[in-house]
Parts: sequence; C-alpha cells; structure tokens
Amino acid sequence: MTPHPLSPRVERKVALEMICPYEPGKPIEEVRRELGLTRVIKLASNENPLGPSPEVIATLNRSNLELHMYPDYEGWYLREAISRRLGVPADCVVIANGSAELMRLLADAYLDRGDEGIVADICFPVYANAIRIAGATPVVVPLGEELDWDLGRVADAVTPRTKVVFVATPNNPTGRSVAFADLRALADRLPPTVLLVLDLAYCEYPAQPASDEALELWRAHPNVVLLRTFSKVYGLAGLRVGYGLAATEVVDWLGRVRVPFSTSTAAQVAARVALGDEEHVRQSVALNARSRDRLARELGALGLEPLPSDANFVLVNVRRDAEGIFQSLLRRGIIVRPMRGARLGTFLRITTGTEEQVGELAGAMREVLG
Ligand SMILES: Cc1ncc(COP(=O)(O)O)c(C=O)c1O
Repeated sequence: MTPHPLSPRVERKVALEMICPYEPGKPIEEVRRELGLTRVIKLASNENPLGPSPEVIATLNRSNLELHMYPDYEGWYLREAISRRLGVPADCVVIANGSAELMRLLADAYLDRGDEGIVADICFPVYANAIRIAGATPVVVPLGEELDWDLGRVADAVTPRTKVVFVATPNNPTGRSVAFADLRALADRLPPTVLLVLDLAYCEYPAQPASDEALELWRAHPNVVLLRTFSKVYGLAGLRVGYGLAATEVVDWLGRVRVPFSTSTAAQVAARVALGDEEHVRQSVALNARSRDRLARELGALGLEPLPSDANFVLVNVRRDAEGIFQSLLRRGIIVRPMRGARLGTFLRITTGTEEQVGELAGAMREVLG
C-alpha cells in the first residue's frame, strides 16, 4: 500500500507523545513466507495451544447468529451465565471487547487531567496507556528485586490525586502471583476514593487458582474491580471478549463511555458456551502445568534460570541482548517475545505452548545459545 504523501496539519493529543504502539509481530503466514519456513510456532502472545472448547466450535457452526442484526447490547445471556457461575448479581457484570477495553473504559470514566493511576514498572502496558490517553498521569512503582509486587510501596505511592491502582495476579510478563493476604492489606489501606483494579487474566493457571479469594475481596470492598478474560484459558483471543465485576454504579459509568455494541454476537455466544465447558478449562490448565514444568527444566538444562511462573508463560533472562536471540529463534520458525527496557533488556517471555512445541523451542535455543 502506498502511504499518503502528505501529513495533516492537525496536532495530535499531547498525551500521545508518551504512547508506545503495541507491537503485535507479523502474522504467522507472513513469517513463514518471508523466511521460507515450512512451519512456524508462535509462543509470543500467551494463547491457549488447545484452542477453544470443541463445544464452542460446534455451537458457532450450527447457530444462526443473525449477523445482520446488532448484538445484544448488554450481553444479557452472557452476563446471566457469569452471574450464575460466580454467584454475583448480573448488574455487577460488564462485558467488553476483551479485558483491555475495560482498562480503557475505567480510565476514561474515572480519570481527569491531573489525576494519577498507579502501575508497576513491569506490567501489562495497556494500563499506563489507558491512563495517559485519558489525560491523567501514570505513577510507576518498581517491582522488587525478585520482580515481585511490593504492595507496601504501592500504598505509599497513593496521593490525594490517585484514582486507580492496577495490579495483575499473576502478573504479565513476570508470571508471579501476589499473595492474597497482601492484596487484602492493600485494599484495607487504600482510601475508598481509589479504585483497585485486579487483573485476573491468568488466574486459572496457578496451582491454587486465585478466583475465589479475589471474589471475597471484591465482595468486601466496593472500590475493587475484577477483570477477567476469555482470551487465555478459554482459548477465545480471536473473538475479543472479557468481563469485569464491579459495583453497579461503576458498571453504569463504564456503560456510558463504552462504544455501543463493542462485543460481537459470536463472542457473546462463544463465551457463554466456553464458560460451561469446565472440562476444557481443566485440560488446558493441566496441559499448561506440564508444558511449563518442561519449559523450566529445558531452560534450566541450558544453564538459564527462568522465573517460577504461575501463568501460561515463563520469563527468562538469556543474559544477552534479547532482541538478537528473538531474531535467531525467528529464523528457526519460533516466535517468542523479547522484552525491552532498563530491567528486562536481556529477558524473553515464552508462552508455554504444547510439550512438543517446548521440545522444539529447547532444540532451537540450544543451537542459538551455542
Ligand atoms: C495481564 C493481561 N491482562 C489482560 C490482557 C488482555 O486480555 P484481553 O484479550 O481480554 O484484552 C492480557 C493479554 O495478554 C494480559 O497479559
């Protein structure tokens, strides 16, 4: 495509200066074609290698989705299903175009210029971007030396301007969980004027899944918001659907800033069926545990020390420029995620994938690391 030769003379928002574009990587097909490879393994975006539940595929194949009609505006059936599953009122459930949309909605609904939102120095970049795009200021709290959250420091960073704190457990890209006792202590310490947003995108993967304790915290604190996604363990990343649990008043405000119909009919139907297939979730979690163990062993055998992970990916220090290792693996048909920035410039994040994929990755790493 030929780029437009002229630039418009319209000034972009000042806040956009600080926004790093998301780096999605090339489509697998394009990598295969460009590098003349016969097969490419993608271990870069923490997707479920099993894909969605077969029941989801069967339902989508046989359903008349009435694609000429707009979707159910509020996602009534999906919210009901989530409400029944979690034992929470449906009015406290808000569905969205992936949980990333909810991060933007929360920032848009609650942050004015001059307000602050707290994030970690190493975390999902959408939090800080959402805060900036809303015109507010991200306040960055460094993770501890072992790349664990120091929630005492988070609480110390709260000022009268703080409106929101984003914490993920397990965190991306570290894979580390936060102890719920620490989260409870943070929730108790935060002023009631601050939203504590707990991102639970990977909460099904730890040996002790964190969802029940998170619900308990949510019930006890009206300013706690839980974010969940169908993109990871449910294998529906391509359909874009996630949900939040929040006080009804918060759900109401988010509804006002949302683009109408942001969650498609197919996504709503698929998510509802996925929620019902608990066996698929169990299989996905079990496969992940096996692959994650093997990945840790294989990396260990190469003399590397991956961080113990509670998620479906592993962060590992390769002790040399991560970008170079990423490129070498790419030429061998394996896509991983090189990290950037002062603290993680020598780290790769590797999605666990299947055991077979871990075997292939280990072989390629052996060659690349010499
Ligand atoms: C910590 C974390 N939260 C949320 C998301 C986004 O999920 P969704 O696909 O629901 O927007 C991701 C995706 O990688 C993530 O790593």
